Amino acid sequence: MAGSSLRQEGKRTVVGWIRDRFPTTPWVDLTRKAIETDQRQMPRSHAEKYELKTIWYWYPLYCLGGISFVAFIILTITGIILGFFYVPDGTYQLLGPEDDVTNKAWQSMLYIMNDVPFGFIVRGMHHWAAHIMVAAVFLHMCRVYFTGAYKKPRELNWLLGVVLLLLTILFGYSGYLLPGNNLSEGAANIGIEMTRATPFIGDAAATLLWGDIGTLSGIYILRMYWLHVFILPLVATVLMILHMALVWIQGVAEPH
Ligand code: HEM
Repeated sequence: MAGSSLRQEGKRTVVGWIRDRFPTTPWVDLTRKAIETDQRQMPRSHAEKYELKTIWYWYPLYCLGGISFVAFIILTITGIILGFFYVPDGTYQLLGPEDDVTNKAWQSMLYIMNDVPFGFIVRGMHHWAAHIMVAAVFLHMCRVYFTGAYKKPRELNWLLGVVLLLLTILFGYSGYLLPGNNLSEGAANIGIEMTRATPFIGDAAATLLWGDIGTLSGIYILRMYWLHVFILPLVATVLMILHMALVWIQGVAEPH
């Protein structure tokens, strides 16, 4: 017994010794590669070309467009619920418990936060999904840029993306104005002044967009509300569907 196991060990050692010096596996691999690359009729797939075991393991950043879209869906659902309770009226009135000068928009925010069941959670979800969407859209744009996915034939989808980025920022800005608090007013004043600085049509554009120029009237909240809940969602939904339809038609780009 002992003699045969020794013989076996010697065999293994000899075979091992030869294998160490004349490895066979790489030659087999080379043959397989030659057949797969030179003889094949089909173009190599992305996973084959870059020798990836799974694409998702290596490319989590390719999910950022999808994350932007999921955030938008969450914003739509929570936004619809908030719309049941929010009052888009920013005009100052004597409304508070001790005849405070305040506005109905801010009062409705207090109502959502303190009295509506789960209201503060729905508002919190809307708030954080908005933050996540802005970050995801920006990082998605960076991913597209650094993988060179904006190049031919995807130039049009890049331009569509630029418009989507602007819409996302406008969503954030118009939403920030809706609570009717001091922060909203500060941001609205900056917006009014920026609109008025437009050459030639500044004052007219400011009156149209904000309802007034110079002084901040509560009308601006109604205008921004209509932009935030109707015009922007309509345009953004159409463009997002178009954007993702183009990805579907053209396929996701391989890195250059
Ligand atoms: C609301 C915002 C956006 C949504 C929901 C969205 C959604 C998507 C989705 C789901 C994809 C598939 C691949 C992936 O997820 O990475 C994609 C690809 C793409 N997106 Fe966006 N996107 C948005 C904004 C942008 C922006 C701001 C840009 C650039 C300025 C952009 C340019 C592109 C391009 C060029 C592709 C094709 C990439 C490829 O083929 O690899 N998108 N987008």
